[in-house]
Amino acid sequence: MITEQEFQRIVSYVKRKSGINLSEKKVLVQGRLDNYMQRNGYSSYHEFMDLVEKFPNGPEAEDLLNSLTTNHTYFWRESDQFLYLKQQVFPELKRHTENTKDWRIWCAASSTGEEPYTLAMLCMDFLGLEYPEWDTTILATDIDTKVLEKAVRGVYAKNSVEQLPQQYVRRFFRPVNQEQYQVKEELKKQVLFRQFNLMNQLPFRKPLHVVFIRNVMIYFDEKTKEKLLENIYEKMAPGGYLFIGSTESMSQSNTRFRYVRPSIYRK
Ligand SMILES: C[S@@+](CC[C@H](N)C(=O)[O-])C[C@H]1O[C@@H](n2cnc3c(N)ncnc32)[C@H](O)[C@@H]1O
Repeated sequence: MITEQEFQRIVSYVKRKSGINLSEKKVLVQGRLDNYMQRNGYSSYHEFMDLVEKFPNGPEAEDLLNSLTTNHTYFWRESDQFLYLKQQVFPELKRHTENTKDWRIWCAASSTGEEPYTLAMLCMDFLGLEYPEWDTTILATDIDTKVLEKAVRGVYAKNSVEQLPQQYVRRFFRPVNQEQYQVKEELKKQVLFRQFNLMNQLPFRKPLHVVFIRNVMIYFDEKTKEKLLENIYEKMAPGGYLFIGSTESMSQSNTRFRYVRPSIYRK
């Protein structure tokens, strides 16, 4: 059993480190950690948290954050946004970057990889035969090391891949067995997975053209979200596009982003 004091200690640690607000999520915290505590023989949550706080880069701290993130994602999620990207954003971006042929796309909470791989498929599909001349590598980041491992492996259940348009399944995946597909090397090469905590300073030197930051800010409080969006704004190219989750909102009075259509904004 977790005591109220232990719960508050975890809430405040996780908020400070990752921005994730668990203050109303006691059942979730317990549900996700109880087994782990037992398996690893801790006699109390305090004993575990002592280790986490003493070794912030240690395995316990990593396990804690990995356990408390919510990683739900799927191929072709909120597909209107992908279609808008391909039909409206890419043609314009291509015109503006004809000289450099360098697109800077960041998928900021990429989870197990379904979203950034989809972005890479769209780039390859849109650019067609010209594709090899362009650098459109997608940077995909997440705080959770476990989901990044899965993303790099690129192996997915057959029924989840089959949510994609058929032409993409055929072109970008190969069957591993009766139940699974793997992303082909050609596509894998187009996505760079890195661990990155959105609470840290954004590392970009060159301005970003497109940012997908979907279904992660719902876990942050308003102040954290506003600060993050302001940091992202600073790193974007003028006219750059920002995509957020369809259930997320952005108050127009607190942001410099311009509204384009639901969940899509521009610098
Ligand atoms: C629900 S998933 C969203 C996945 C995908 N963007 C989508 O919309 O389908 C949220 C992801 O945000 C990540 N996350 C949470 N807090 C984070 C932080 N501070 N920095 C980076 N990633 C974070 C989680 O690990 C999780 O994989």
